Amino acid sequence: MAEIDVMSRLDLVIFGATGFTGMKVVEQLATVAKKYPAMTWGVAGRSEAKLKALMADIGKKIGEDLTGIRIILAEVTNERSLRDMCEQAKVLINCCGPYLMYGEPVVKAAVEAKTHCVDVSGEPQAGSAGRSPLSKKHPKDLPVFEPKLRTRSTIHKLEDQWCVPFPGVDESVVYRTQRFFHDHENQRVIQFKTYVKLGSLCTVMRTGFAGVLIALLSKTAPTMKLLLKYPKLFSGGMVTLKGPTENVMNNTKFTFELYGVGWDKNTDVSGKPNKKAVVKRWRSDNWSSIS
Ligand SMILES: NC(=O)c1ccc[n+]([C@@H]2O[C@H](COP(=O)([O-])OP(=O)(O)OC[C@H]3O[C@@H](n4cnc5c(N)ncnc54)[C@H](OP(=O)(O)O)[C@@H]3O)[C@@H](O)[C@H]2O)c1
Repeated sequence: MAEIDVMSRLDLVIFGATGFTGMKVVEQLATVAKKYPAMTWGVAGRSEAKLKALMADIGKKIGEDLTGIRIILAEVTNERSLRDMCEQAKVLINCCGPYLMYGEPVVKAAVEAKTHCVDVSGEPQAGSAGRSPLSKKHPKDLPVFEPKLRTRSTIHKLEDQWCVPFPGVDESVVYRTQRFFHDHENQRVIQFKTYVKLGSLCTVMRTGFAGVLIALLSKTAPTMKLLLKYPKLFSGGMVTLKGPTENVMNNTKFTFELYGVGWDKNTDVSGKPNKKAVVKRWRSDNWSSIS
């Protein structure tokens, strides 16, 4: 295999730049790039016209001339194009989705081209053990740890707010990291569970009802078709074809809280944990920082 010249590559390339997530990443990067003139970056996707239009739009929005930013054409079903794209990047930010369908060829091309690949997947199915082609590489379960993390009831109250299990990708991501620490650094893994605080019991009920309705409608082809055509109707206004408006995104607040229990250093870890803490409370002022 020919030697790959890493130094002549762009620092960052965003693949799937024309998608909902990709556009947000491009806008953030273009804004941050103003502070780092030495940083080189590019955008990649399957449609040159869409990529050009995107760069013109974002350039206008942030008041920057982005015409000099490299545009790379790559299509997931074309292995050669993925490899060519990866060979132009030191770090590839992969926003092309859904990952469950398109994730693996991109990772493969990045490995072959010796390119770091940032995975922004928000899909639990793509990250959880045994459910995606990528996760088959880790078929063994992690050991069972004692004492077992106390499971909370499906709907429970914490600090005056109602919480339910969060069906996002966070648990899979944390357990994959824990697996690495366990397998490679022989570390004891932590146990982790995610919940979302929904505020009032009424919001919990409304969200639960929409969730059950969506799950039922997605069971058959005709009802799935209806669901895809009228998502707003069946989700009580929560999901729309156009996605959230700028106004909604700019005014959506978010707090991330980590609660932990554990042991003091050098204490016996076979008994009950003797330490309890809110490890981190992190607030965001708008939607972009949620992702
Ligand atoms: N971590 C998070 O918080 C978070 C949040 C949201 C989304 N995500 C992840 O981001 C990914 C994208 O989600 P999204 O909502 O942005 O989706 P989206 O709006 O549908 O965008 C999908 C992107 O993939 C591109 N694409 C699709 N098929 C392709 C193909 N065959 N070849 C090349 N490019 C192709 C699309 O290009 P065209 O424009 O040409 O169609 C588009 O740029 C998902 O995997 C999701 O899990 C993560």
